[in-house]
Parts: sequence; structure tokens; C-alpha cells
Amino acid sequence: MAQATHGGPAESGTRRDFLNLMTTSLAGFGALAVAWPMIHSLNPSKDVLALASVEVDLSAIEVGQAVTVKWRGKPVFIRRRTEEEIKQAEEVDLATLRDPQPDDVRVQKPEWLILVGVCTHLGCVPQGQKPAEPRGQYGGWFCPCHGSEYDTSGRIRRGPAPLNLEVPTYTFESDTLVKIG
Ligand code: FES
Repeated sequence: MAQATHGGPAESGTRRDFLNLMTTSLAGFGALAVAWPMIHSLNPSKDVLALASVEVDLSAIEVGQAVTVKWRGKPVFIRRRTEEEIKQAEEVDLATLRDPQPDDVRVQKPEWLILVGVCTHLGCVPQGQKPAEPRGQYGGWFCPCHGSEYDTSGRIRRGPAPLNLEVPTYTFESDTLVKIG
């Protein structure tokens, strides 16, 4: 219900209220008319929305294997870690890390490590996804651009990169289906 914005006789008040309301309504309509094309243009199309998240079926990935998927134009590394890799990641003394983070804040399930595969130095894609690629002395990934090495939790251990590999937002939809983004 609109509130009167003035005193004075009831009749003129009613008329002024009406005028005020008209002005407000027109201004509101004007604002809406301007806002609509903007909102409409900000509304992502269906194909853009589709790229905002990606679902990955994990059922075919064996222990010790890794796959790379594309998400929002970036590679995402998914590695199904071995018991040994999990142990290595969990036993690291955090005081020795450049970007200290315990392994359990970087994974939702210890077996599955999911990372944005972009080196935090200058943005190269580190190696270590394929069996034939070097993984560096910490068993994770090696960035050949300037020699950064990441461990089995994707944490920076050596070389110029300042930060750990980023963990993207993801949700397990089931035991074998993960939605990234
Ligand atoms: S971009 Fe990876 S070490 Fe420089």
C-alpha cells in the first residue's frame, strides 16, 4: 500500500498521492524498460550455461589413472590416487610447504584428487597426467615451463609457482559421477 508523502486536505492529498503514484509508476516502468535489455543480455544462453559445469563419469578410471576434462576453457585434472599417493599427501609436514594446506581440505574423497590443471606461476599446463609424462620428485605434476613441481595433493613443492594447483568447485552426484562447477 502506498503511503501519503504530505499533509493537507484529504481531497488534494488524494490527488497528489495519485500524481505521486503515477510518477513513481512511470519512473518504475522507465527503469524496468531500461533494465530489461541489460538483464536479458546478461542472461547466459543455454550453451554457455552448459559449459558452466561439466559432469564426468568416473567409473572407467582405474586406481592410479588420471583423466583431463575441459571446464570453462581450462583443463581439469582428475586423478584416482593410489593408497601410496594418498599416504604421501597426508603425511607431509605442513610447516615445509610454501602454500600450507592439509590434504583433507583439498579432496572430498581421498581417492579422487580434482584440480585445475594450470600452473600457478605463469599458467602453463603441468605434465604428469599420462604415464609417460614426468611427475617431478614429489609424484604429482611437473611444469616444464620453469620447473615447478607439485605433490600428490597438487601442492607446490619446488620451483617458482607461488600457490598450490587450484581445487575447482565440484559435487559428487553419486559414487561414480562428479559434477565440476
Ligand atoms: S608456468 Fe609453470 S613453472 Fe612457470
